[in-house]
Amino acid sequence: MKKALFFILAVLLLALTGCGNTTSTPAAQEANTGNETQTEKASDPVPNTEKQEASNTTTVSDKENASGILVIFFSRTGEQYNVGVIDKGNTAIVAEMIAQETGAELFEVLPEEDYYPNTYNELTDVAKKEQNEKARPAYQGELPDLSSYDTIFIGAPVWWGDWPMIMYTVFENNDFSGKTLIPFSTHEGSGLSGFDKKLQSACPDAEVLKGLAVRGQDAQNEQDKTKESVQGWLKDLGF
Ligand SMILES: Cc1cc2nc3c(=O)[nH]c(=O)nc-3n(C[C@H](O)[C@H](O)[C@H](O)COP(=O)(O)O)c2cc1C
Repeated sequence: MKKALFFILAVLLLALTGCGNTTSTPAAQEANTGNETQTEKASDPVPNTEKQEASNTTTVSDKENASGILVIFFSRTGEQYNVGVIDKGNTAIVAEMIAQETGAELFEVLPEEDYYPNTYNELTDVAKKEQNEKARPAYQGELPDLSSYDTIFIGAPVWWGDWPMIMYTVFENNDFSGKTLIPFSTHEGSGLSGFDKKLQSACPDAEVLKGLAVRGQDAQNEQDKTKESVQGWLKDLGF
């Protein structure tokens, strides 16, 4: 009887050990390895990154090839004349409309260091000083390779009757020879303020076409109306 009991216990023990072994059979190990490999693959950054880069590159170059158009713009948020404190600059809104209508790429001119105040009065003082000093404030990064673009829209707010000085840095640091340049402004009464003539003087070997002036408060608060004038202007230009 004791022997029989011992035998049953021994069989049970073997069976239990066997269960334990089951998880480490080669088949189970393969399955585990397979799972691990799958997990590794799913979270492996290298192939994913490669894929993403490839698809981004394709998208960008397709777009470039499709449009060959670039929109370069400068714009400020914070407190602006007539519109209070804004999250998106007036000129930025117009720039995005142009890009949407033409399929253009956008390049925002951002100061290398953000030394422009967010309050309107202080900003006008800084801008006036820059203008008096004929400053050429540095901007972040570089324009995309201009050989990909034949037509370049260039926009900014009118500052003291002129382009903001940082835009002259852009005009003078890049070669716009042979390009078609199309200026646009946002303003609160000065219109285009000679943006076209000043652009032509700064980039004498470019062809400068008819520009568009949009009231800042319309760009901010009357977007349907603004879109219509952007569309009308683009149509006149043959887009
Ligand atoms: C420093 C400064 C100077 C300005 N000078 C003029 C000007 O001479 N004529 C004008 O019509 N508006 C002027 N404005 C108003 C801006 O052109 C207008 O608010 C513009 O839409 C702002 O665009 P943004 O939001 O893209 O920066 C000036 C605004 C600032 C901040």
